[in-house]
Amino acid sequence: MARQWILNSQNGFENSLEYRKDIRIPSSSDLGPKDVLVKMLAASLNYRDLMIATPGTIAGPIQPPLIPGCDGAGIVEAIGSSVQDFRPGDRVVTYLAPKLVESSGNDAVPTAADTFAMLGCGISGTLRSHAVFPEAALVPAPRSLDWLPASTLTCTWTTAWNALFGLKGKQVSPGSWVLVQGTGGVSIAALQLAVAAGANVVATTSTADKSARLVALGAAHTINYVSNPTSWGTEARKHTPGGRGFDIIIDVGGDETLPQSLAAARADGLLMVIGGVGDSKAEPVPLLAALIHTCIVRGILGGTRTQFYDLVKFIDEKDIKPTVDEAVFELAEAKDAYRRLSEKKHFSKVVIRIDH
Ligand SMILES: NC(=O)c1ccc[n+]([C@@H]2O[C@H](COP(=O)([O-])OP(=O)(O)OC[C@H]3O[C@@H](n4cnc5c(N)ncnc54)[C@H](OP(=O)(O)O)[C@@H]3O)[C@@H](O)[C@H]2O)c1
Repeated sequence: MARQWILNSQNGFENSLEYRKDIRIPSSSDLGPKDVLVKMLAASLNYRDLMIATPGTIAGPIQPPLIPGCDGAGIVEAIGSSVQDFRPGDRVVTYLAPKLVESSGNDAVPTAADTFAMLGCGISGTLRSHAVFPEAALVPAPRSLDWLPASTLTCTWTTAWNALFGLKGKQVSPGSWVLVQGTGGVSIAALQLAVAAGANVVATTSTADKSARLVALGAAHTINYVSNPTSWGTEARKHTPGGRGFDIIIDVGGDETLPQSLAAARADGLLMVIGGVGDSKAEPVPLLAALIHTCIVRGILGGTRTQFYDLVKFIDEKDIKPTVDEAVFELAEAKDAYRRLSEKKHFSKVVIRIDH
């Protein structure tokens, strides 16, 4: 039988997640013309999965029951009659916004309006042993990656790629200075990509232990944002040549971190507004602050499917190995995996192995 997790409500993951082991394994006869049957071999979690399981967050309401999770990797078992890009035996990873691709193509930019038609939110996701996905929900997996790291690319890595390479004329390049915040999925992906591109990276974190791990991944300097809550932006800036500030800042903390990010930005530098893991009650930062700090403010939601293809190529070319947390969970233990993410005990990505 197939196995899958279901979100039955949005009353928090502890109450809302339910594991089912009595599901019929889909076969070729279940496939529509553009469908692909994938034997899932790994999945990973995102901060968004916690939000989707919780009432009143910006993730918005879902229609339960829903299979959660958007990150995943597996092997194609069967294809529908019109599938162009995949064959049985292909190694694949999931793409977040297939409905957008079907309506507007591979270069369509995801917006807030698309979030309710994304994997693990409006469309059945990845926390299952067997999945039928539309072809547009898949991209070939990097040849150089095992299943667990391959499963981490869907959300945080495409976002980090878009943040660093998505704006023409402002792409990260050798000698760029990049600031990343904390050791979550987006920030470690941005660190690894920026280092591979030849950039200098300064990273913030909350503990000495994590600081050492950031240096091992290539960070030139680290700063403890807990012991310097109101000055880490200016402190980080001092590490850039002549104190000129950062070319690219990956802000994942929201209103709590944005004042420091602005203080660290170079004139005409790029401030990427990515997320809100910081204090949600922090004072809102006015957009006029961009004028005072003369920087470019750019918000994004994931990346395009074309960008995902580019990311896969770059990972193979540069032999990047996405960092995964040391605690690996089995599919049946997904609730424990959610708990590790929610308690912020992880480093980079929380991953789930799907055995067969
Ligand atoms: N815009 C998009 O397309 C997009 C895509 C993916 C994610 N996001 C958003 O980006 C944010 C990060 O996502 P994620 O998946 O990377 O989350 P995550 O893995 O849960 O990140 C957790 C880490 O964030 C760090 N952190 C927490 N509070 C911080 C603060 N005040 N200052 C600096 N770092 C802090 C901590 O690092 P240390 O333990 O090292 O202190 C923590 O371990 C979330 O808000 C998520 O919704 C947005």
